[in-house]
Amino acid sequence: MSEVFILGIESSCDETAAAVVRSGEEVISNVVYSQIATHQPYGGVVPELASREHLRAIVPVVRKALEDASQTYESIDALAVTKGPGLAGALLVGVSYAKALAYALKKPLIGVNHLEGHIHAVLLEERQHGNHELEFPVLALVVSGGHTHLFLAERQGAGWIYHDVGHTRDDAAGEAFDKVAKLLELGYPGGPLIDFLSGHGNPLAVKFPFAQIKHPDRNPQNRYGKDERRADFSYSGIKTAVLRYVETHDLRASIAQRRRVLGQLASPAPLDVLAACDAEVLDLVASFQRAMVNDLVSKTLAAAREHGVATVLVTGGVAANSELRTAFQKSAAEDGLPVHFPSRRLSTDNAAMIAAAAYPRFIAGEFADSELSPDAGLRLR
Ligand code: KG4
Ligand code: ZN
Repeated sequence: MSEVFILGIESSCDETAAAVVRSGEEVISNVVYSQIATHQPYGGVVPELASREHLRAIVPVVRKALEDASQTYESIDALAVTKGPGLAGALLVGVSYAKALAYALKKPLIGVNHLEGHIHAVLLEERQHGNHELEFPVLALVVSGGHTHLFLAERQGAGWIYHDVGHTRDDAAGEAFDKVAKLLELGYPGGPLIDFLSGHGNPLAVKFPFAQIKHPDRNPQNRYGKDERRADFSYSGIKTAVLRYVETHDLRASIAQRRRVLGQLASPAPLDVLAACDAEVLDLVASFQRAMVNDLVSKTLAAAREHGVATVLVTGGVAANSELRTAFQKSAAEDGLPVHFPSRRLSTDNAAMIAAAAYPRFIAGEFADSELSPDAGLRLR
């Protein structure tokens, strides 16, 4: 088939996004309207506000994505939309809009799993750089504000099938970054700020031990046999450990002082936040990040060895973290494993990844019907 232009639409959390991707391998346009300013005062995403903002933004965001791509509603070949997982009301905005548009335009519609989208962000850019073949099996760490998941991926026809070989038992890694930033009054979202501030602190100052949650998987469905070991994650404990540190080291007053200082600025820049931090909090933040990075890298690479994988992919918002990237590159190289990340722009939520994930399904003719509805708890298989 000649060139295929797919319009992707993403609205699962706090970004309203639309993009046009050519044949699953070239981003033609990529528009992301972030709701950060709306949720900032609450230090986290407020679902009702997210739905309202998606309703406001979706039409202009889609129009801009088409304009930037020099495409029209009529010229695109198909539409793709995130059907889950995510916030139910937020997903509903994207799915309803995409269904109405596909119906009116008489174009095929493809429903995409958001987690598969994050994986395709890496594949899309690899293809864009001329790397069309990854070696299988592939282990993908999807690590974001809502997810921390290890998927073992294998090829099936034009698409992939996924096995869940580890996931978080409680908080997602990005959620831990955001909650620690909120506790320390650093701002929202916490990940990029902690990433920046960590470069100014001593990562060895505070020790955060992690529980090793490893056990033989007792799930009889497990295709790897009874003795297969899972590597699950848990990030609610480290958040409590930071809270305990704040209390035992009397950091409350300096946190309140930072809230006052930053509260006077309309939108504090990372350098403003840095200026409002003392050495003790910078050391705490750097140590927190080091502990998170060590846990993510060591568990992922242990699972990679366990399953004998040929390639590791790391994707999702937290994959934008500089220390995580460096640590993965270094440790994976020691194991002789290639590790691929998306660019920072495609690490966090976007619709180019949704349009890219839809391409193999377009080729296979896997189209959604009028029954397509959002599924907040959708699993990836
Ligand atoms: O993929 P994403 O945009 O949305 C979800 O699907 O959740 O991920 C957002 C998450 C937030 O928790 C944010 O703090 C985190 O990714 N994040 C980072 C960085 N940039 C974004 N975490 C650590 N370091 C970063 N540089
Ligand atoms: Zn995401």
